[in-house]
Amino acid sequence: SPTAVVIVAAGSGMRLGYGIPKALVPLAGAPLLLHALRGAAGAGIARQICVAVPEDDTELTELCRTFAEELGELAPEITVVPGGETRSDSVRAALAALAPGTVHVLVHDAARPLTPSEVFHRVAEALERGAGAVVPAIPVVDTIKSTAPTEGEAAAVAAEVVTGTAVREQLRAVQTPQGFDVAALRSAHELAATWGPEQVAAITDDAMLIESIGTPVYVVPGDLQAFKVTTPMDLHVAETLVAAQG
Ligand code: CTP
Ligand code: MG
Repeated sequence: SPTAVVIVAAGSGMRLGYGIPKALVPLAGAPLLLHALRGAAGAGIARQICVAVPEDDTELTELCRTFAEELGELAPEITVVPGGETRSDSVRAALAALAPGTVHVLVHDAARPLTPSEVFHRVAEALERGAGAVVPAIPVVDTIKSTAPTEGEAAAVAAEVVTGTAVREQLRAVQTPQGFDVAALRSAHELAATWGPEQVAAITDDAMLIESIGTPVYVVPGDLQAFKVTTPMDLHVAETLVAAQG
């Protein structure tokens, strides 16, 4: 089926702390977005790659233009759109720019520059087998607990107290690209547009929107190398991995 990849690259990268959009931060000499573009194009599944960049951007747009030129005519069409205030807004802007007739879309973070082709393939295959939504995921290695702020006398001991422990065997850390039936993802985003600010603030991925309308979200194996570059330590890890792969 006609498939597009959306790459969201409109974040500011506050936690990485470079003072420039994270997608522009270099890894092994190339901006994170260029790694993500190469990965998405190299997977060979998309007829269009749509990139959401920061509103005031010129550099990432130029990078996309140069990349499209290098790819040439037979390669996927590269489209650039201004992103929004939240990741969800950026995804919505990109969905609006997909070519008519696009049936499947893989939504990917520019901040996951080392995602192997196999992950794109596993997600795309699940869509071809009929999934309306599919996420790549890996087992969780830490024990995950919920907490609440302490009150009264307890507050003098520590700021938070444990309220419960999740069953680790059931937990997964979810990555991108996340795959969707385009129509299903569009209607989920339309529904979310009617939500209140607190609900909207709690949206951290696209699959959550699909879950909220009761459509099954399938899970395929992710990959440790598809980790998200969020903090300076993550960038160090990424540099080390690229250096080791030579
Ligand atoms: N993203 C986006 N539009 C936004 C916010 C995020 O396109 N308004 C993208 C980022 O560019 C990134 C992905 O969503 O590729 C995951 O977001 P995150 O890791 O949080 O990146 P940033 O928002 O840039 O980082 P931070 O939260 O530290 O500012
Ligand atoms: Mg963010």
